[in-house]
Amino acid sequence: MKIALIGLGTTGKIVAEYLLKEQALAMVLCRQDSPKEGKDLGEILHRPTTGIAIESTADLEEKLLRYQPDVLIDFSRPGFLSQNLAVLAKCKVNVVTAVTGYSEMETKRIKVVARNGKIGIVMAPNITYGVNVLLMMARIAAHLQMECDFEIIEENHRDKTDSPSGTAKKIATAISSTIGENGGENNPIPIHSIRSGDIIGRHKILVTGKYDQIEIAHTAFSREAYAEGAFKAAQFIHGRTGFFEMKDVYRLEKNYFKVNRSVLHYNDESFDSRSCIL
Ligand SMILES: NC(=O)c1ccc[n+]([C@@H]2O[C@H](COP(=O)([O-])OP(=O)(O)OC[C@H]3O[C@@H](n4cnc5c(N)ncnc54)[C@H](OP(=O)(O)O)[C@@H]3O)[C@@H](O)[C@H]2O)c1
Repeated sequence: MKIALIGLGTTGKIVAEYLLKEQALAMVLCRQDSPKEGKDLGEILHRPTTGIAIESTADLEEKLLRYQPDVLIDFSRPGFLSQNLAVLAKCKVNVVTAVTGYSEMETKRIKVVARNGKIGIVMAPNITYGVNVLLMMARIAAHLQMECDFEIIEENHRDKTDSPSGTAKKIATAISSTIGENGGENNPIPIHSIRSGDIIGRHKILVTGKYDQIEIAHTAFSREAYAEGAFKAAQFIHGRTGFFEMKDVYRLEKNYFKVNRSVLHYNDESFDSRSCIL
């Protein structure tokens, strides 16, 4: 599988290192007029020459036809995919976009192109396995603790531009829609955002009742977690068409049913796992 990467910022550089190790990186792109254009990737990563010259997004169609990547991993900004989605679809390059901060309109368009354009897109505002397990736990908590107050606290590094984070918004939607589906009030879930220092990413769900509180939290220790998730998503989308999310990549629903079966056999009759349906 040949992978192209766009975005050589804080996260993209770590992803580039990871893809070099996997010997999967065939093409690296930067925005037009970037000082990175034409440089060897090694120079940007402060390592020996890699032989991969950074190309700008100018004349993208011609470059995609020349390099023929199977999948493009995007760690840039929403503007890139919005402007270049049609070209990627035309050249049949599948996409993993980890970018957050897309507008509702942009998200809708990405879904339409994936479903009609005969390419595969993984939209992954939450790319790590841990965050996806957290999302599943949020739904379980919303099922079991419907009467409680739910709040989310998210912490990220000081340079993160979108606030609240895409992950926090996704957790909030998962909780409110689960409560709504079960006849509760589908109110928006409050999100508190902290932008500070070099915090890589922390999301905490508070489930507060009259007499007690549950905390469910995920903390990322290393940006390599993002690189690993992006590579898994690229392997998944290679050769597929349609619109997917990370829960599809990690086969979370299938794995959940395995867990649920073992919970059913758990020898504690006071726990009725049948009420715990995702
Ligand atoms: N899904 C997840 O779990 C996850 C995890 C981490 C990050 N992210 C997301 O990934 C994105 C990048 O994060 P980051 O922290 O690495 O940001 P960053 O350090 O600001 O890097 C952004 C990169 O994108 C490039 N860029 C900006 N606009 C562009 C455009 N229109 N076309 C092409 N390239 C463009 C920038 O190029 P210049 O430097 O040349 O301006 C820079 O290399 C953000 O949306 C972030 O939220 C998602």
